[in-house]
Amino acid sequence: MEKELESLLKEDRVFSPSAEFKKQAAVKSREEYEALYKESINNPEGFWGKVAKELHWFKEWKNVLNEDEPPAYKWFEEGKTNIAYNCVDRYIDTPKRNKAAIIWEGEPGDSRVLTYWDLYREINKCANVLRNMGVKKGDRVIIYLPMIPELAISLLACAKIGAIHSVVFAGFSAQSIKDRIMDCGATFVITADHGWRRGKLLNLKDIVDEAVTDCVNIKNMLVIKRSEHEKTSCHMQKGRDYWYADLMNDAAVTAETEEMDSEDMLFLLYTSGTTGKPKGIVHTTGGYMVYAYLTAKYIFDLKETDVYWCTADIGWITGHSYVVYGPLLNGATCLMYEGAPDYPDKARMWEIIEKYGVSIFYTAPTAIRAFMKWGDDWVKKHDISSLRLLGTVGESINPEAWMWYHRVIGNEKCPIVDTWWQTETGGIMITSLPGAVETKPGCATLPFLGIEAGILDANGQEADTGFLAVKSPWPGMLRGIYGDDERFRATYWSKWENTYFPGDGAHKDKDGYFWLLGRVDDVINVSGHRLGTSELESIFVADSVVAEAAVIGIKHEIKGQAVVAFISLKEGINGDKTLEGNLKKLISEKVGKFAMPERIIFSGELPKTRSGKIMRRLLRDIAEGRSMGNITTLADSQVVESLKEKYEED
Ligand code: WTA
Repeated sequence: MEKELESLLKEDRVFSPSAEFKKQAAVKSREEYEALYKESINNPEGFWGKVAKELHWFKEWKNVLNEDEPPAYKWFEEGKTNIAYNCVDRYIDTPKRNKAAIIWEGEPGDSRVLTYWDLYREINKCANVLRNMGVKKGDRVIIYLPMIPELAISLLACAKIGAIHSVVFAGFSAQSIKDRIMDCGATFVITADHGWRRGKLLNLKDIVDEAVTDCVNIKNMLVIKRSEHEKTSCHMQKGRDYWYADLMNDAAVTAETEEMDSEDMLFLLYTSGTTGKPKGIVHTTGGYMVYAYLTAKYIFDLKETDVYWCTADIGWITGHSYVVYGPLLNGATCLMYEGAPDYPDKARMWEIIEKYGVSIFYTAPTAIRAFMKWGDDWVKKHDISSLRLLGTVGESINPEAWMWYHRVIGNEKCPIVDTWWQTETGGIMITSLPGAVETKPGCATLPFLGIEAGILDANGQEADTGFLAVKSPWPGMLRGIYGDDERFRATYWSKWENTYFPGDGAHKDKDGYFWLLGRVDDVINVSGHRLGTSELESIFVADSVVAEAAVIGIKHEIKGQAVVAFISLKEGINGDKTLEGNLKKLISEKVGKFAMPERIIFSGELPKTRSGKIMRRLLRDIAEGRSMGNITTLADSQVVESLKEKYEED
């Protein structure tokens, strides 16, 4: 953490939004932000109650916030609403009915535009299909789809009937899908025959078939045919698997909306933590809806004329809150793109921006670093002057990448919102409001309205540098870990009293700006994807040749961090290239390709303290070529020397 801090503190550039941007912004000045912020902190119930009233409720809540039994906070208690209704149905009698809700482009270049009216009909039909197949309020539905409009439609159809969706990113392996199905007791899967990635077909249905072998609880599967003209074959099990299009053809175009209690579960989304098992983060209806709505409205400054593009996959929280729910709750036009950013060439993103006149672009530092590496010429091929606002999410952005984004993509006129948040927080927590707050490259800046952020040390004392903390509840907060209340309390609420612990280090500068310094736990961030090191270690250790494994994240030019595994093998096993390849494949099979280690280093032993703890800090020093600090606490300092030699040898 010290190293990150040292380089960040050298950053003293400050950028102000242009007068032109400020004039049209939802929040126009620092003073206006301060006034709203003060109101939101001094009177959270008044503030959030007012925001919630901008949305539709079948029945109004009794209390905005119930904090009688922390951390079991409740928002908009006894209120009845439905998020899908608020995303779509409420516009059907307004001029928005004819506005594009989703503009979609497939990787091969096919494209579809769904107006709010179209989306309304598709959601209703899909809701009817699900109901006809026996899916009820509270049932868990696994969604494993590529980035096609049906992914958004499936989420909203589940929400419409009160089924709990759990989207599994379509890069996850069969084993990961299975783990999630078992953990949440899902009974239904929505998937596709295949998806496109860099011109190749991924056989998603085959992966799901493998996942559900022996999963007796899966009663039905709904299968979307991604491409009619492609001759794809996939196995359809009679009586269990149904083609989506066949059932949609016969489905009615109106559907009853389930009136959901504000605290009814909306979705589960699994994320990695510090133990071997991913955790099912629970979000509920009312609070999540209000928070996704307001954050999207103010941070992306959404206007009637905007074409808003968040490049995240809906398989991650960013896609849930800022591809689907947040923008649709604001009646915005969202662009969705199915494929890779460099297919068929490295100008694809800029081509899409030009073609559809994208005005707001929200992406991740890992993508920005790749664009930067590919070079400005790709960008210059297209007119991207429609852009007016940029955003980043997923990890801290390095100041050089920020400057490139500002200069080459933003033409020095677009504000950049650097948004810090998590699967658990439901929506953005620390960010600038684009027309109100000056930005500094690499800095997430200030807390969003209603967010009481601070920096605390281990004893709960205020500090300039330490752990990021959120000191009071907010509507979008997670309500639990599915089926594991103990883990929920231990992970997030046990460090300090009634204060949320996100697991990130942070520094607050003299202007009160927050600089994020990375995770302080055993979670690493590879291309913006969270991976638990112990999750990977347990997979290695379960293999018959592995005695011990330590997984660390090392700096990576494009990915931010990359996975490196140090492995000691059982007696008599030879750590050669073939074994390295097999172990890499193991991770890809058990988790997904994106988690594959960059390197595996075999070692007779792993460096340990005298009390037997693996010294990860030291492994990181070795892997990043740093001089090693004090190693006198080590049981055997020889181990380190030989490891270092091995690492440098390769
Ligand atoms: C990291 C993604 C610095 C952080 C929305 C957090 C960031 C984890 C930023 C959550 C940012 C996300 N600056 N770090 N702007 N955004 N992070 O759950 O470590 O996939 O705890 O949610 O990503 O990852 P998750």
